[in-house]
Amino acid sequence: MNLYKVFLRPLLFRFGGDAAHNITMALMRIAGSIPLARPLIRFWNKVNAPSLQREVFGLSFPNPVGLAAGLDKNCEQYNLLSDYGFGFIEVGSLTPEPQPGNPKPRIFRIPKDKAIVNRMGINNKGVRHAIARIQSDPPSCIISASIARNTKSTSDQEVIRDYRTAFSLLYDFVDMITVNISCPNVEGMSSLEEVSFLSEVLDELLSLRLCYDKYKPVLVKVSPDIEPEQLDNILDYCMMSGIDGVVATNTTRSRAGLSVHPQKISDIGNGGLSGAPLYNKSIQMVRHIKEYTGGRLPIVGCGGIMTPEQAAEMLDAGASLIQVYTGFIYEGPALVRKIKRHLRKLSTAKS
Ligand SMILES: Cc1cc2nc3c(=O)[nH]c(=O)nc-3n(C[C@H](O)[C@H](O)[C@H](O)COP(=O)(O)O)c2cc1C
Repeated sequence: MNLYKVFLRPLLFRFGGDAAHNITMALMRIAGSIPLARPLIRFWNKVNAPSLQREVFGLSFPNPVGLAAGLDKNCEQYNLLSDYGFGFIEVGSLTPEPQPGNPKPRIFRIPKDKAIVNRMGINNKGVRHAIARIQSDPPSCIISASIARNTKSTSDQEVIRDYRTAFSLLYDFVDMITVNISCPNVEGMSSLEEVSFLSEVLDELLSLRLCYDKYKPVLVKVSPDIEPEQLDNILDYCMMSGIDGVVATNTTRSRAGLSVHPQKISDIGNGGLSGAPLYNKSIQMVRHIKEYTGGRLPIVGCGGIMTPEQAAEMLDAGASLIQVYTGFIYEGPALVRKIKRHLRKLSTAKS
């Protein structure tokens, strides 16, 4: 019996999205402070198998299942979350300065479709808070930091400066950095999908990386709504410039695949859609990236992975690693363990 789905989820879903998020985080902290609880959670969620390990971008991942950006926005719960068996955790998105994000309500669950619409607007406490957290609680797992611009940055120069600041402050404290250029809830973010501007930002970050002793992978997270030609231009740039990989995908502006009444959809309003309806789009994009790049650019497949079978399919489609967010909310922490067990079973059956 999945205790989360039977008891905790119905309780959490009585609250609004923001409140449910805060309650979950508080419950995790309380559970983590009970003596022996954390070793037990770790033990329960551990699935050992050499076949689960992955060497990607020069890093050794214990398994390919990551937590996508947005859940541990402020870099406060990565060690507790990693107890649930993730192979890596993406924190953020983090901006140089703290920002409150959009007014609430800004998270809307659509249980009938196993989906979420959010317009958080990259609310976060800023990179300095994240660094202080990492210093006080050194990560026991691979940490990727998602970085973004502050929403108040308007000129191109300010945007470049924001990414440069977030990148250089975080570089020494995390294992890899993902440049978020694809948040549908931040005005002007789509200008970064034009390769001419994106390359200015990324060239700056890649030059900065040369100043550090240790090489760390830099990835770009793309939107599922990007025009095919824009995507191919970005992929060409990534392959030429030394970008280490692509995260595909962020949430979508599209409402395709939702079966709820159109009035409910319009009541929710703007925001990025995640969860089950996104899956077809994200896997198609992963397939395209794999084919277009000839497998030369590692892909982190993300978007609508709700079952172990979909996780395996995403990896088969060309992803080297995968990430979940909405699946974790609907299926609970057991999803990570189930995916790993399924992958282990598939690999045993193959050998
Ligand atoms: C409430 C919420 C907040 C999110 N915040 C971020 C964010 O700050 N940065 C980011 O790159 N992606 C963010 N995402 C997108 C997820 O990382 C992921 O790309 C997307 O939800 C698709 O995966 P999923 O269907 O497994 O949720 C957020 C998603 C949700 C649902």
